[in-house]
Amino acid sequence: MAKLAGYLRAGLRPGLRFIVFLGASALLAVPSFEAAAGVNLPKLEKGKGEKCVEDTATMRRNHMDLLKHHRDDTLRRGIRTTQHSLKGCVECHAGSKTGSVASSKEDFCVACHLYTGAKPDCWDCHATKPGKRPVNQAAQPTASPLMPSHGGSQ
Ligand code: HEC
Ligand code: HEC
Ligand code: HEC
Repeated sequence: MAKLAGYLRAGLRPGLRFIVFLGASALLAVPSFEAAAGVNLPKLEKGKGEKCVEDTATMRRNHMDLLKHHRDDTLRRGIRTTQHSLKGCVECHAGSKTGSVASSKEDFCVACHLYTGAKPDCWDCHATKPGKRPVNQAAQPTASPLMPSHGGSQ
């Protein structure tokens, strides 16, 4: 599914579409022809507020890097800002039906990740709903409370 995920990120660069489409259509695992061609992009509920923390195109392409960067600043360098905080994403993107970003297939983060095959493990520890304790205490690694052995590919 890496190629399909790549397609989505490349979706804003039309010149790449054809090439990526060829790659995607070669994958039998692709859900449907339309999906492979990018016609069937998941329908995403609009976030709260006027705009995201960065412009939409940047978010689509780079949110994983922003999140990881922010996490490293917080955990390794002790810098606490809210600009790219995961809590912030949850506050604005929790779905109107479930109140969560990741408890149903339609919820914001999951809808897109299902489509692209991305499976971040963030929700093992982080709350998917606003106003919950940010991190499940029980899931915190015991070795060093200050430096959790962070999940996910880095
Ligand atoms: C093993 C448990 C665990 C997993 C899995 C995990 N985290 Fe964290 N994360 C933590 C802990 C503990 C903190 C520190 C909590 C704090 O300082 O608020 C943290 C803090 C963060 C922060 C900074 C605080 C904030 O709310 O923005 C970000 C960003 C973050 N994690 C992103 C992620 C992302 C993205 C993933 C998935 C790829 C992820 N984390 C997976 C345990 C985890
Ligand atoms: C203040 C509320 C707010 C916060 C905080 C926020 N977003 Fe957004 N986000 C929005 C809005 C509103 C849009 C839709 C903007 C538009 O239509 O151009 C959006 C759009 C997006 C998109 C593009 C969706 C699409 O249609 O392709 C992604 C991806 C995204 N946000 C991820 C995140 C992530 C990840 C975080 C946390 C780092 C986050 N957002 C934090 C409000 C927010
Ligand atoms: C517009 C579609 C879209 C939306 C909405 C979206 N993502 Fe993603 N996300 C992706 C794609 C595509 C990838 C895989 C990128 C890759 O493989 O390089 C990804 C990857 C990630 C990763 C990295 C996974 C890893 O293991 O490295 C994290 C973390 C992440 N997303 C967090 C979020 C969070 C949190 C939200 C909801 C606030 C969200 N995403 C919403 C498309 C989206």
